[in-house]
Amino acid sequence: MIAVPATPQQLEVVSDAIDEVNKLKTSRAWDEASKFDAEKDKAQFRLYEDACDRVKTFYKEQHEKQTVEFNIQVRANFKKTVRARMGIWEAMEMLNTLVDDSDPDTSVSQIEHLLQTAEAIRRDGKPEWMQVAGLVHDLGKLLYIFGSEGQWDVVGDTFVVGCKFSEKNIYPDTFSKNPDYNDPVYSTEYGVYTPQCGLDNVMLSWGHDEYLYHVLKNQSNLPEAALHMIRYHSFYPWHREGAYQHLTNANDMKALEAVQAFNPYDLYSKSDEPADPEKLKPYYQKLISKFFPDVIEW
Ligand SMILES: [Fe+2]
Ligand SMILES: [Fe+2]
Repeated sequence: MIAVPATPQQLEVVSDAIDEVNKLKTSRAWDEASKFDAEKDKAQFRLYEDACDRVKTFYKEQHEKQTVEFNIQVRANFKKTVRARMGIWEAMEMLNTLVDDSDPDTSVSQIEHLLQTAEAIRRDGKPEWMQVAGLVHDLGKLLYIFGSEGQWDVVGDTFVVGCKFSEKNIYPDTFSKNPDYNDPVYSTEYGVYTPQCGLDNVMLSWGHDEYLYHVLKNQSNLPEAALHMIRYHSFYPWHREGAYQHLTNANDMKALEAVQAFNPYDLYSKSDEPADPEKLKPYYQKLISKFFPDVIEW
């Protein structure tokens, strides 16, 4: 039988179909355990007791200044203005000038950390929406460039304000100089909250997680699990140490699953090979266009 030569359009369709099949062959569910970090020594990350003074000074300031009053005010201010209008890649490039004072594990640039996170998720065959969550998860740190008070209201682990500070936070002793520490209501177990009220009804310390969640919840078509990863990825006392169980409800279990599935990529990709932004840009630009408008109001 003589083969009929295919048109360029037909070849394109076949090639797309092959790509799709290859993707399906290697793809894994978002909540399957991470594989990329199998060989890594996990004990070498988040060593806060051995951390440099930059990290310790940062947390002391954050734990003293994140009060209920500050958190109410900063949320009110957030709603008043649009700080910038730009696309995701442009935002990644803008963020690149920041060195995160709270991070004991990495000194690579922010764009590299975002790409390392996304690449680790991609290498593990996880879905595109999760790769995108990895790519954008720290873009909320732009707050620092938009005129935050300092880094203490942008980066670092998050915790609950409005009730007793958990002993499971890092450097728990440094909360003693926070004005809320001795407040008759805020210093109690439940503070202003009711038992099992759910994280949606709880105020977490303001920073890049909470900010980015509010920016993207109406300006993307990311699934709920991705928004949970973004909103709670720095809430280590909860997702790693099991604190604040008296405030969470059944809905938060879904969020916990999402954040725990995401965390290894955020944390353990920090020791991976450096990522090359120019080489990776075409692939991620394509993904970005699937989940976000060209211009986002920040
Ligand atoms: Fe982060
Ligand atoms: Fe991160």
